[in-house]
Parts: sequence; C-alpha cells; structure tokens
Amino acid sequence: MARLVIVSNRTASPRDRGTRAGGLAVGLREALQKEGGLWFGWSGELSEAAAEPKIHEAGNILFATIPLTAADHDDFYVHYANGTLWPLCHYRLGLIEFSRSAYEGYLRVNRLFAERLAPLLRPDDIIWIHDYHFIPLASALRALGVANRIGFFLHIPLPAPEVLTALPRHRRLVADLCAYDLVGFQTADDLRAFSSYLEEERVGAMDRDGAFQAFGRHGMAAAFPIGIDTQAFVDLAQAAVDSPQTRRLADSLGGRRLVIGVDRLDYSKGIPQRMESFQAALESHPEHRGRVTYMQIAPISRGEVEQYRALRRELEGWVGRINGRFGEFDWAPVRYLNKAFPRQSLAGFYRAAAVGLVTPLRDGMNLVAKEYVAAQDPENPGVLVLSRFAGAARSLPQALIVNPFDVEEIGDAIHLALTMPLEERRARWAGMMAELRTNTIQSWCQAFVSRLNAIDTNRRAA
Ligand code: UDP
Ligand code: G6P
Repeated sequence: MARLVIVSNRTASPRDRGTRAGGLAVGLREALQKEGGLWFGWSGELSEAAAEPKIHEAGNILFATIPLTAADHDDFYVHYANGTLWPLCHYRLGLIEFSRSAYEGYLRVNRLFAERLAPLLRPDDIIWIHDYHFIPLASALRALGVANRIGFFLHIPLPAPEVLTALPRHRRLVADLCAYDLVGFQTADDLRAFSSYLEEERVGAMDRDGAFQAFGRHGMAAAFPIGIDTQAFVDLAQAAVDSPQTRRLADSLGGRRLVIGVDRLDYSKGIPQRMESFQAALESHPEHRGRVTYMQIAPISRGEVEQYRALRRELEGWVGRINGRFGEFDWAPVRYLNKAFPRQSLAGFYRAAAVGLVTPLRDGMNLVAKEYVAAQDPENPGVLVLSRFAGAARSLPQALIVNPFDVEEIGDAIHLALTMPLEERRARWAGMMAELRTNTIQSWCQAFVSRLNAIDTNRRAA
C-alpha cells in the first residue's frame, strides 16, 4: 500500500515541547497512528541557519522536522500565517496586517519545506498537506518535479469572496490552492465560498461533483468535516471518572454545578463575549449565584502576536470584574487558567461539567465541542451550548445553538442548560452521539485519502 506523507507546521511528535493544544495536531495524530506514515513539519525550534530534517520514529510514525530561522519564523508564522491569514479566514478584517516582506517570507518557507521534503519522497507516496501555513506547498513541490498525488485540507474556514478578496494578492493564493489534486474543507459553507470565489473572480468554475477547473488546472474539492476518535474519548472519560484529579475538581466545587470552556487563548474563540454572557446569566438569574462555577481553560497561544497579548489583558479584566462583583468569601464565579491540560484530564473535567460552552465567533470545526459530548455520562449527560459559527454546529444541531455575538442569548442558554430536564438532555445527547459515532477521525482520514487515490492524475492540466 502507498505510504501516506503528512505535512503540517505543527506536528504531534512526542519530542514537541509540552502539551500542544490544537485541533490539527490532535486530529492527525489519531489518524496517522493506525496506518503509519511520514509526518513532516516544523520542529518547534529556531536555528541560526536552515538545517537538514531530523528524523525520529515514534510508534508507527516517522517524524521528520526542520527548524526555522528567527527571520523565517517571524515572516512566515508570526506575520503572514497568524497576522494575515488567520484573521482573514476568521472574518476579522480589522485585525489583518499585510506586508510584502511577510508574504515573501511565507513563500520562501514554503519553498524551503518543498526542498527539504522532496528528497524524502518515494514515487508512490500520497502527500497530504495541512492548513493555511502551506497553501503554496504543492506549487513549490511541482516546481521541483514532484509528480505524486497531493491533497490539501484547510482546518480553518475559507471566507466568502467579499472577505477573501480583501487579501492583497488573493489570486496568487487561490491559484496555489488550485494546484492540488484534491482540496478539502471542513464544511459545505467553505466549499461554497471556494466555488463562489472562482466564479465571481472569473478565474474558473466548479461543478456539482466538486470537479474544478481554474488557473489552467483541473482538480477536485469537497467538504470533509473532521471528527474525533470517539470511542477513545469515551474510554478516556470513563477512566477519568474516578481519577484523583477529577475527584479533586469535584471536591473543590463543593456541590456547585460546573460550566466549562476549553480553548486556546485566541480571539476567534469569543471568550470575552462568553465571560460577559456568564455575567449576564448571573445578573438575570440570581438563583445561580453561589451555585455555579465557570471554569475557563485557556492556554496561551501565539504570544508573539500582539492581538493575542491584547486579548489576554482583556480577559484578565473580565475575570477580575466578575469575581470582584459577584464573588463571595467562599465562591469565585470564574476560574481562569492559562494552562494546557492533557486530554485525559480534560476528559474528566468535561464529564464533570453540566454545561459545555463553545461559542467561537468563527471556527473551522471545533473539536472541543465534540470531545465534550463524547465525554458525557449517558445516564446524566451535560448540555452543549454551541456557536452557530463553529463548523461543528452543522453536524450537531441538537446542541443549544447560539449567536456568539449575542451575550444575552448565551446567558439565557446557560440558564436553559442548567435547568434542562433529564429526558431532554438525554435525547439531545443521543442525537449528537450518533453523529460522533458515525463520523470519526478514522472515517475522515479514510474518506480523504481514498478520494485522493481515486483522482485521475492524467487530467491535471486543463
Ligand atoms: N486541548 C488540549 N489541552 C488544552 C486545551 C486544548 O489538549 O489545555 C486540545 C483539545 O482537547 C482539542 C484541541 O486541543 O483536541 C483544540 O481543538 P479545537 O478544534 O477545539 O480548536 P483549535 O485549537 O484547533 O482552534
Ligand atoms: C489551529 C490551527 C492549527 C494550529 C493550531 C495551534 O488548530 O488550525 O494549524 O496548529 O491551531 O496553533 P499554533 O499556532 O500553536 O500551531
């Protein structure tokens, strides 16, 4: 069988420092562990000069990673990927920075990755490239003569053309996207944005089967909503029920109900709005005062980017205000932790929580929403409050769906969740669980790879 080669900026190598919070690495590790393969990415280190890949094996996976120079890291990761593409794809035009030098750096690092990866490739490898850091990688590999099948999956949203065209040089970026044999998106909305872009910019067209023709190329595009390793998460949560850590959490709550949020500290996650909505719930439903604790786990992410530092300051203000205003000598309404937890711990925390708050302003999918559901006790499940702008809302309509910009609406949903009758909780949970059992990380991986395998590569040129 052909070997699968995965490329992503962040790998889940055990040599990666600390707990890496992030849906991409979590999802791919679970997908690749079963089949085995090569995983190529950034080592997480900075070096004086470009270096050859370091190779090590862990389980079924061969990791090959390279460091970045400080200048490359700055242009590619800090400024272009996270200062330009991330806010653009999350509909935050006001936060976008653009500089030609950062864009040049982005292309430079993509060429560097292509040069370092190409010698490791075998002719029948299937190459699967992930996320916004590496949109130009297929073009860079093709320029080196790599003829393998190459697929791409975008883990974050693709914005509508009105937003995408705000990006300087958007055409070049989309042309690079069209250099793949198969382009995968999280949802049908993202796929529609892609096809609308081709049409509205008059650069190509996509038919109803997802076959597109653009920039002189033929390819396929489709939605592949990512899932989780559902059974593994169910097992983790069951094992965590009696763990010392889960017990300590329960003891510390002193019989109060728990509302939980788990997100990288990212402005796309809507955490300030969520804080405000919890405040709104305490204001309009005083019966919850002293009886409910909201725990927000928010590990620091991308601290090099100013917008992320500003968010951290903003949240510290929110926590201080809510605890100062509503707190009692024996109750702090909000627990706020800038710390990443291993998933075993999260599984126990989710299960202990009566309400899971997942209210991003925009999110490609959001795995936390799925993990929260999988972790619940079937006899007495908690309630998921979910933003309509998370990709997960498309497949989990049984959640309490909210508009994340409407803090009063979220506040009401928190109240509704805390007071929902057991039967309704069970019915909603069962519907979501059926979906999570059908669409797993394994089926996602298999669907993408078999689709990529089925493509007729003789028809690449238009
Ligand atoms: N995560 C973790 N520890 C933490 C916080 C998050 O392991 O302290 C994991 C979480 O379990 C989930 C992933 O990071 O699997 C976050 O993925 P999601 O799709 O929700 O958001 P992203 O970070 O990719 O934007
Ligand atoms: C999201 C992105 C991933 C990224 C992760 C963590 O999941 O889709 O590509 O790896 O966030 O962000 P970081 O910048 O730390 O890699």
